[in-house]
Amino acid sequence: MKPVKVGICGLGNVGGGTFNVLKRNAEEIARRAGRGIEVAQIATRRPNPKCDTGSTPICADVFEVVENPEIDIVVELIGGYTVARDLVLKAIANGKHVVTANKALIAVHGNEIFARAREQGVIVAFEASVAGGIPVIKAIREGLAANQINWLAGIINGTGNFILTEMREKGRTFEDVLKEAQALGYAEADPTFDVEGIDAAHKLTILASIAFGIPLQFDKAYTEGISRLATADVNYAEALGYRIKHLGVARRTAAGIELRVHPTLIPADRLIANVNGVMNAVMVNGDAVGSTLYYGAGAGMEPTASAVVADLVDVARALTTDPNNRVPHLAFQPDALSDHPI
Ligand code: HSE
Repeated sequence: MKPVKVGICGLGNVGGGTFNVLKRNAEEIARRAGRGIEVAQIATRRPNPKCDTGSTPICADVFEVVENPEIDIVVELIGGYTVARDLVLKAIANGKHVVTANKALIAVHGNEIFARAREQGVIVAFEASVAGGIPVIKAIREGLAANQINWLAGIINGTGNFILTEMREKGRTFEDVLKEAQALGYAEADPTFDVEGIDAAHKLTILASIAFGIPLQFDKAYTEGISRLATADVNYAEALGYRIKHLGVARRTAAGIELRVHPTLIPADRLIANVNGVMNAVMVNGDAVGSTLYYGAGAGMEPTASAVVADLVDVARALTTDPNNRVPHLAFQPDALSDHPI
């Protein structure tokens, strides 16, 4: 079967990670997708030193990718609301499937984007938009499909959690740790989004839409960040047996679904109080399953790429007519078992 052709728009941290993971794990990914996934074009204005793109065609204009007739899936990794919205709508209008990590775009323009995608019969996949490498969207939409969701709550901004952790463990200042989070590629292009709770509110809006089957309503979320916290606040909390965590909470109430993000005092012995550094964790409570917990890296080059590539595999599977491809466990690797099991 012919490989699926992908165009990557944006070769920053996540774009570079996506290219590298697709290249490194090409065989495994092709087995799982039922066909190869080939990067046919990359749009970027500057090379990424962490990514050797070899002979892959490069262009400077992202709109070249959506006009390229060869390309089946456009991977939108440029971020922001404006150009990204135009790009995604154009890709959809041209009959292309879209994979994006852009939470701002989905939270703010998702209703419009999904309506257009439905009209055109194309897929828009966005697992990487929430909680980096944790497949929490798939977990809620697929794994918990039987449940009425009562509430979900979690740490969904890696930068903020990294800052709070370093302040508590090492006594560092807010500004100092934020600079490091930017250098490590965790923070948004505009870090105000991380520290004022906007990024977490984008992600909460997306999770709530899937969990409760409601339209995306970013403007309804109560949004408060961590920018007013000082190392002393973190230390006082610790002395009282608590940790300060920045949480996103969505829950069903008698008055409707409530969405809020804000710093919260959590007893230090709770699981969620011990989620440190760039790690994220999301608890989801359903009426049948009870409480479930999803944990992993919430930001970073390859963790986020892991979710982007998983979406590419999903789209590639959906594009194949091979019925065996819909049963992923048949995609086994012969001779992979050790002859000497313990
Ligand atoms: N700036 C985001 C964070 C990146 O720190 O969580 C991942 O969405």
